[in-house]
Amino acid sequence: MPPGPIWKGYSDSLVFNAHPFPEHPVPTRLGVNIDHVATLRQARGTHEPEPVAAALLAQSAGAHGITVHLRADRRHIQERDARLLKETLAIPLNIECAATADGLESVVPVKPAWVTLVPETREEPTTQGGLDVLFLHAHLRQTIRELHASQIRVSLFVDPQADQLKMAAKLEADAVEFNTGVYADLAPGADPATELARLREAARLGARLGLKVLAGHGLNLQNVGPIAAIPEIEELNIGHSIIGRAVMVGMERAVREMLALTNAGLA
Ligand code: PXP
Repeated sequence: MPPGPIWKGYSDSLVFNAHPFPEHPVPTRLGVNIDHVATLRQARGTHEPEPVAAALLAQSAGAHGITVHLRADRRHIQERDARLLKETLAIPLNIECAATADGLESVVPVKPAWVTLVPETREEPTTQGGLDVLFLHAHLRQTIRELHASQIRVSLFVDPQADQLKMAAKLEADAVEFNTGVYADLAPGADPATELARLREAARLGARLGLKVLAGHGLNLQNVGPIAAIPEIEELNIGHSIIGRAVMVGMERAVREMLALTNAGLA
């Protein structure tokens, strides 16, 4: 079945350029980042909207995983959210956190399927750039060991650079998530060819090194196609665009629209 029928029923001004990506060996999984739902709740300090409800809607719409970022400043997701998500979801939970003692202390007891280690500063509006795996290698080796000892798989959020990937593999990370921020932030009309070539080459190297290859940051309905078409990229983590769209059309429809463009395996 081509991806068309998933979204065909919705009349909307968006133009979808859905591809079946026949060259893609496996369906591209979609991890939905629901941090922004918690941001909205925290803006009023009340109980709504409920991030767990949003995650369950994403799951019923076909999301393959849910991602949350448990930030040190707890600006959106709280430990309570992480615990409830782990208890209620049938799909894997991925928690992003800084590779700090405090980060691990909050995340390990939740026992998510995955932890993604990210750089984190209090000043940034969202994650900026990838981890410097080379610089941090000794510390990351220990952190990865601790997470593995708790049966938690580890992904490292990195820029698509060969030396970072080689070190990630040496440290026995299970996956790398490529920062697609540079690609996503290209000026309108700029040629994405160089950035896409960089991502494609890094994806090939990552897979050769035995790493699971993921990607995310700044992806939306307009720019996700060429990234979802990269055969070695197994999973995309997308938040801002899906939650922004969900405000307009509802969570399930927003997830289905993204799946129609990313999930090559629907064919
Ligand atoms: N991947 C990582 C590591 C992130 O930190 C974020 C943002 O929280 C995302 C993916 C999702 O990015 P966006 O919200 O721009 O889709």
